[in-house]
Amino acid sequence: MSRESDQLIIRKTEARDGPRAWQLVKDTGVLDLNSAYAYIVLCDYFSDTCAIAEEAGKAVGFVSAFRDPRDPSVLFIWQVAVDAARRGEGIAYRMIRHVLRRASCRGVRTIELTIAPTNRASQGLFRKLARALGCDVQVGRGYEAAMFPGDAHEDEDFYRIGPLP
Ligand SMILES: CC(C)(COP(=O)(O)OP(=O)(O)OC[C@H]1O[C@@H](n2cnc3c(N)ncnc32)[C@H](O)[C@@H]1OP(=O)(O)O)[C@@H](O)C(=O)NCCC(=O)NCCS
Repeated sequence: MSRESDQLIIRKTEARDGPRAWQLVKDTGVLDLNSAYAYIVLCDYFSDTCAIAEEAGKAVGFVSAFRDPRDPSVLFIWQVAVDAARRGEGIAYRMIRHVLRRASCRGVRTIELTIAPTNRASQGLFRKLARALGCDVQVGRGYEAAMFPGDAHEDEDFYRIGPLP
């Protein structure tokens, strides 16, 4: 746990954070919303690589991530959501740095993720992270829109950030 200010706390998730993570993701209106069960499992079994930011008991940020089971030197960052009223305060950036600093991320050399081409905030966030870590950013083809059922999903470009110091 780290107390970021008098009020803001960033910490590992617990199962009981799942419903609040679900709500934060739902409220973004842009992220793919998974089931509440999925967030409960993420917050429980993947707590070592997920983080929640809370203030006075209210969740204001959530990041989900996991180490690639095929190559644990890769951290895949899945979803990042910050309460709309609290954006631009560095909460997303600090949550990710919090995860990377943990003993559970020792040995992580590469960050991978996907970002929709129109998501400028997310692109800015991860480019800032790469600059701070002194890493290169490679962008390639990720999951194409055609892979998703229906026609309501954009492409997801693939980002690789590394090598981490
Ligand atoms: C993307 C998101 C998580 C960023 O959260 P945040 O807490 O506001 O981000 P931070 O304050 O930590 O910003 C870190 C950096 O990201 C970049 N950034 C953040 N918001 C930005 C925006 N709207 N436009 C461009 N760059 C932006 C900036 O470089 C910023 O650093 P700076 O303030 O020093 O310039 C937030 O906008 C969000 O929840 N969006 C909806 C969900 C989403 O798109 N999630 C990401 C995809 S998984």
